[in-house]
Amino acid sequence: MSDATTDEPLVLGIESSCDETGVAFVRGTTLVGDALASSVDEHARFGGVVPEVASRAHLESMIPMLERASAEAGHRLDDVDAIAVTSGPGLAGALMVGVASAKALALCLDKPLYGVNHLAAHVCADVLDHGPLPEPTVALLVSGGHTNLLVVRDIASDVEELGSTIDDAAGEAYDKVARVLGLPYPGGPHIDRAARDGDPEAIAFPRGLTSRKDMERHRFDYSFSGLKTAVVRWVEARERAGEPVPVADVAASFSHAVADVLTRKAVLACTELGISDLQIGGGVTANTQLRELAEKRCAEAGIRLRVPRIRLCTDNGAMVAALGSQMVMRGLPPSDLALPADSSLPVASVQA
Ligand code: KG4
Ligand code: ZN
Repeated sequence: MSDATTDEPLVLGIESSCDETGVAFVRGTTLVGDALASSVDEHARFGGVVPEVASRAHLESMIPMLERASAEAGHRLDDVDAIAVTSGPGLAGALMVGVASAKALALCLDKPLYGVNHLAAHVCADVLDHGPLPEPTVALLVSGGHTNLLVVRDIASDVEELGSTIDDAAGEAYDKVARVLGLPYPGGPHIDRAARDGDPEAIAFPRGLTSRKDMERHRFDYSFSGLKTAVVRWVEARERAGEPVPVADVAASFSHAVADVLTRKAVLACTELGISDLQIGGGVTANTQLRELAEKRCAEAGIRLRVPRIRLCTDNGAMVAALGSQMVMRGLPPSDLALPADSSLPVASVQA
């Protein structure tokens, strides 16, 4: 990939907050080079991401990914106008690898450094597919590590959290339910596949935080821990009774419960706030039922739905470069070189 020379800034983005080492070059809102290494296979036998394993994998992959992205973009590292890096939230040790690498590059190449928020970067990924983000927009982020409902008034500087999960992330619930059903990690894609042959109405699993009382206190929050426990109990009861577990029906009914509550609250946020654009991102966005239900409910409510291609929904360096590029184009000052990796960086801190 290569790009014509324009006035738009060329930004290098580095992502290392969880189990993906992502490096990318973005010119304005155009992705020109992208490289990604994942340590997901190394975590499979543990059934979840092991932070130390992830950090070591980032160390091993960082330089090869910088070289690969650079070759794909047809640019040298010192061609860039700025360097952007995820500085939080995420796994502390994993973040540190990306932040230290970005600082080293910024110092050696004498380029401005932008520490960016991982959640805002997820939202910003979509500019690479669909152009400038309508503002304000509501954004729903659903992955193995996060489930957040956000209102974005300015992608580079004004992101507010409406709600988030109070326990498990949606993807985490998928991974745990998959384990109970004897499906491999990460469980989401396997449950999705199994669900295609099942009946989503077969089992009435609970919808977390949707009772009238919960809607007062946790209007835009999510909870998937009760749902996960309900599935586990249901499956165990079947096994105790010596009856076969209808994996497809459990998968379909569980997925339906997740998609129902995710889309219901996201659409409610749009209608109550009078915002007519919804954007969805994060690895769980690959889910068939979530996509279909989001499309249906948005169409019914007159809301425009934006969903980037799946490769941009999961963790990647392109979204970080895209957000850095927005900051450069708005003329925002760079971050301090003493920028820390902050595992619990609040959503509202778009730039660290
Ligand atoms: O965004 P992501 O790649 O990584 C982070 O967690 O940040 O999301 C991974 C999560 C995993 O929990 C995985 O099980 C889930 O996304 N996932 C899915 C599907 N594909 C991936 N969940 C439901 N349906 C899918 N098709
Ligand atoms: Zn993420």
